[in-house]
Amino acid sequence: MPPAFFPQDIIIKKRDGGALTKDEIEFFARGVTDGKFADYQATALLMAIFWRGMTPQETAWLTDAMMRSGDVIDLHDIPGAKVDKHSTGGVGDKVSLILAPLAAACGLKVPMMSGRGLGHTGGTLDKLEAIPGFKVMLSIPEFRAILQKVGFAMIGQTPQVVPADRKLYSLRDVTGTVECIPLICASIMSKKLAEGIDSLVLDVKFGKGAFMKRKEDALILARAMVAVGKAGGKPVWAQLTAMNQPLGRTAGHTTEVIESIECLKGRGPADLMEVTYVLTGHMLVLGGAARDMVDARRKMAAAIADGSALEKFRQMCVAQGGDPRVVDDYTILPTAKQLLEVKASADARGFVSEVDALKCGHAIMALGGGRAAVTDKVDHAVGIADLIKIGEPVSPGTRLCTLHINDDAKGARAEALIRDAIKFTPTAPVPEPLIQDLIQ
Ligand code: URA
Repeated sequence: MPPAFFPQDIIIKKRDGGALTKDEIEFFARGVTDGKFADYQATALLMAIFWRGMTPQETAWLTDAMMRSGDVIDLHDIPGAKVDKHSTGGVGDKVSLILAPLAAACGLKVPMMSGRGLGHTGGTLDKLEAIPGFKVMLSIPEFRAILQKVGFAMIGQTPQVVPADRKLYSLRDVTGTVECIPLICASIMSKKLAEGIDSLVLDVKFGKGAFMKRKEDALILARAMVAVGKAGGKPVWAQLTAMNQPLGRTAGHTTEVIESIECLKGRGPADLMEVTYVLTGHMLVLGGAARDMVDARRKMAAAIADGSALEKFRQMCVAQGGDPRVVDDYTILPTAKQLLEVKASADARGFVSEVDALKCGHAIMALGGGRAAVTDKVDHAVGIADLIKIGEPVSPGTRLCTLHINDDAKGARAEALIRDAIKFTPTAPVPEPLIQDLIQ
């Protein structure tokens, strides 16, 4: 039987600025998955979409078609509201490791499928793999069983979920078509909607260390994702968060796992706790586990104070094969050979005005803790800790951070990047609001 469409006709239509129909978009998503749309045709269409854009309706159809290119997980038989969070990524963003057990301790089910770090941004799966024995690649039945028993599970995307995105993302990555709002929106939302969630909270980052540098672009992406959620019948709230300096005082893997556990013990840094509380609070309200944000704050504070959120983290480690002793003994995590304190130079005076998140991310990569290509291995032991924050006072010899290093030459490169990342001013800078908007 001849195909319903010819790929070249769809490419030409989009190239000339036309809006694609639902059937054409479904043919494309099916075609990239089963190979009927050749790679060179798919990349030509991606480039046409990059230049011509997509209407909100086309974006919603593309999301739906991509979601249905593989398995859509059905969680309706698991009691409780299934709510997830997705962040567009940044440096030091370990919120998922704190938020998921906290939300579960407050009564939600959190079916979280996460990704790996790429470039200067970290990935939740890599951080979890710093815990000895921790398994992130589980089957869907295992995922469901852990979700039901513990209240949350944190795994990698299985090959059966949204295969169209796997293909399209790998093509976009090498053809200059990543930075395209309808394609980013469909890529993220198809994967989240395939998880079987009832509702979703998005943390759309903008700034130096984020994928979107400009707030205006982050806002457009946030609005597009909220609209796609609505079109799919799922409430989605999107928060806009500044990512000019790293979140918290650590970046890396072991260092971020330790900071996350410290947060669950009630000893987290203010900025990281604020982002975590607001995102988790939105989840609790969306999922009906809290009346409003005031009620949510009270429940979250109680779950940290009585240790129930920490206990959820321990249970998840046991369920996913990780060593639960990590909660009490950080020495079982991969440990770097050497600690290198970076101190302010003799002429440093005043206050920190900038801690460039992108440069800090590059410092992690220089240490061997990042990934330039998807196949690279990361060194879990290396990283940044004790990082100074914008607004803090400095004088000669003030510690700017502690680098966890495994190699002197790499350590020296990372130190140079950190020194370049941190700037001082004579007077205290006006703090930039961290959380800037909520799109509902
Ligand atoms: N993250 C995704 O999953 N997809 C994109 O296109 C960009 C970021």
